[in-house]
Amino acid sequence: MDSSLTGITTTGTPHLGNYVGAIKPAIQLSKKFKSYLFLADYHSLIKVNDPDAVKESSMKIAATWLACGLNSKNSLFYRQSKVPQILELNWILSCMAPKGLLNRAHAYKAAVDLNKENKNDEDFGISHGLFSYPVLMSADILMFNPKYVPVGKDQKQHLEITRDIADKFNKTYKNFFQLPEPIIDESLDLLTGTDGRKMSKSYNNSIDLFSSEKILQKSVNKIKTDSKEPGEKKDTKDSIIFQYFNHFSDEKEINEIKKEFEDGIGWGDAKKKLFLKINQEISPLRDKYFELIDNPKLIEDTLEDGETKARDEANKNLEQIKEKIGI
Ligand code: ADP
Ligand code: TRP
Repeated sequence: MDSSLTGITTTGTPHLGNYVGAIKPAIQLSKKFKSYLFLADYHSLIKVNDPDAVKESSMKIAATWLACGLNSKNSLFYRQSKVPQILELNWILSCMAPKGLLNRAHAYKAAVDLNKENKNDEDFGISHGLFSYPVLMSADILMFNPKYVPVGKDQKQHLEITRDIADKFNKTYKNFFQLPEPIIDESLDLLTGTDGRKMSKSYNNSIDLFSSEKILQKSVNKIKTDSKEPGEKKDTKDSIIFQYFNHFSDEKEINEIKKEFEDGIGWGDAKKKLFLKINQEISPLRDKYFELIDNPKLIEDTLEDGETKARDEANKNLEQIKEKIGI
């Protein structure tokens, strides 16, 4: 049976970008395919070294998956750290990962470029964890050999690296891994944050997925627009407001919005409409989220159940992989 897999790093609070880029598509796929949905808590150590913050974020992200409709009966839901076989596979794949390939990974390259710009040593402040991040991500994925990996556009290169590593393994030993296909909606941009950059937990520019209605409305009001007056035709191409409508509306609604932009809708009215649109979708999920956050035992039990199943499967797969490599 084909399967789908995705994870979210346990840094901070889930935001609208995580929702549209990963959570919503993954939940949709989980209705058709067996799904592996996990909390990438070992990945979080690359960015966060505050134990309480990692714990709190894990709970928030777990509650988010459940509130958004994750059905733990037909999905495996787990913390990466509770499936230690992933770390064993990480080493095996490390030995299949050309260093040159990792030198070109975006996150590492961006950190090196920043050091150069600031006239620091190239590797100043860069951990081996950051450098080898894409290998751990490959291990997360290949541990369960899924066919599909729903992610936001920013993860495209990581999926390419995963496929390269899997291909190298298949050529070095006998074919074992299927090459996972990223599920990325190329027609949609990454959601923009309140400062105009990609919305990210790391940039402090996010709109929390489950912020209160009041804060959601305030955040939407803060989204940057041009200075066109009501009545003037608005451009959809570079409009962040339009980008948000694109993520939260169906085709018919998008055509209506395009027409309203043509007709010169005022930014104030467009923002009101956008807030209502997002809130309509999020509101029932928000209620469930807060019920779950108040019931950590339920979250813990659900995770533990998924983790037992995930470890069993991972063990079987790892045994086969080890046999292939002669260990
Ligand atoms: P963050 O960058 O906020 O730390 P993660 O790296 O944990 O988020 O990303 C988890 C998932 O959410 C990934 O699939 C990623 O591609 C997706 N994602 C993150 N930010 C955005 C965004 N602004 N728009 C669309 N998808 C996003
Ligand atoms: N690297 C992803 C991110 O930061 C999170 C992640 C870790 C992931 N392992 C994964 C996503 C495996 C998909 C598959 O967004």
